[in-house]
Amino acid sequence: MNTDKQQVHDFWNEASCGEDLYLPGLDREAYEAQARKRYELEPYILEFAGFDRARGMQVLEIGVGLGADHQRFSQAGADLTGIDLTERAVEHTARRLAAFGLSSKLAVGDAERLEFSDESFDCVYSWGVLHHSPNTPKAVSEVWRILRRGGRASVMIYHKWSLVGFMLWIRYALLGLRPWLSLSDLYARYLESPGTKAYSIAEARRLFSHFSEVSICTVLTHGDLLESMAGQRHQGALLSLARNIWPRALIKRHLSRTGPVHAN
Ligand SMILES: C[S@@+](CC[C@H](N)C(=O)[O-])C[C@H]1O[C@@H](n2cnc3c(N)ncnc32)[C@H](O)[C@@H]1O
Repeated sequence: MNTDKQQVHDFWNEASCGEDLYLPGLDREAYEAQARKRYELEPYILEFAGFDRARGMQVLEIGVGLGADHQRFSQAGADLTGIDLTERAVEHTARRLAAFGLSSKLAVGDAERLEFSDESFDCVYSWGVLHHSPNTPKAVSEVWRILRRGGRASVMIYHKWSLVGFMLWIRYALLGLRPWLSLSDLYARYLESPGTKAYSIAEARRLFSHFSEVSICTVLTHGDLLESMAGQRHQGALLSLARNIWPRALIKRHLSRTGPVHAN
């Protein structure tokens, strides 16, 4: 593993996504509580992932994290495979599925070098993962390679022009007296794992340009609306203050087209 990817691995192997904030234990109840919170904060995942359409399909999830979506695919009757760069996420997901009497072919694996033959899945699903991998275009071309012609990839990546980006700029560029820092620098240094990227719609379209059909939409997230803990890296008095004064109603009315890019 090269240094950049090792850093991504080490970041997510310290705590899987949402583990510190929303996973109260390691048993069935704890995983259930985390999933409840996940779909309360991000209800749009349910439609985007299309769990109900997965019965009998060969599905690969890339970047399983704590495994809530993986559980849904398994419960829906998918012929399921899941990978994650980290041992921790694979352990969580295996433990979660076992607690519910479910199964999947789970392994540690790298989105940039998928160990599957060409055209071997009907559906590839990846929520909030590929923008963390150092060579995102390579990961996207791997998704295309292993997808059957006529198959579907549902991929969520971060949107560059988001309120989260604006908040990072206020906190680290403006208040950090480094207003020259670009949004790309800010996402890479301060959002989550080192090197995280975010895309404009045009950039996302270019990234997926070898797919025969691409539809992209953006949503306002709980992060943009400060409706949740902002993430495992972000805490403090300034954030608490912002959470109290954040004009959510105004944002929802006028800025409903910022947030992560979903391409499928
Ligand atoms: C923000 S978390 C998202 C996890 C899960 N999909 C979710 O929505 O909670 C990012 C995940 O991507 C994984 N990841 C990052 N780079 C990866 C790569 N190259 N291959 C596979 N997984 C990767 C990380 O280990 C981490 O579990």
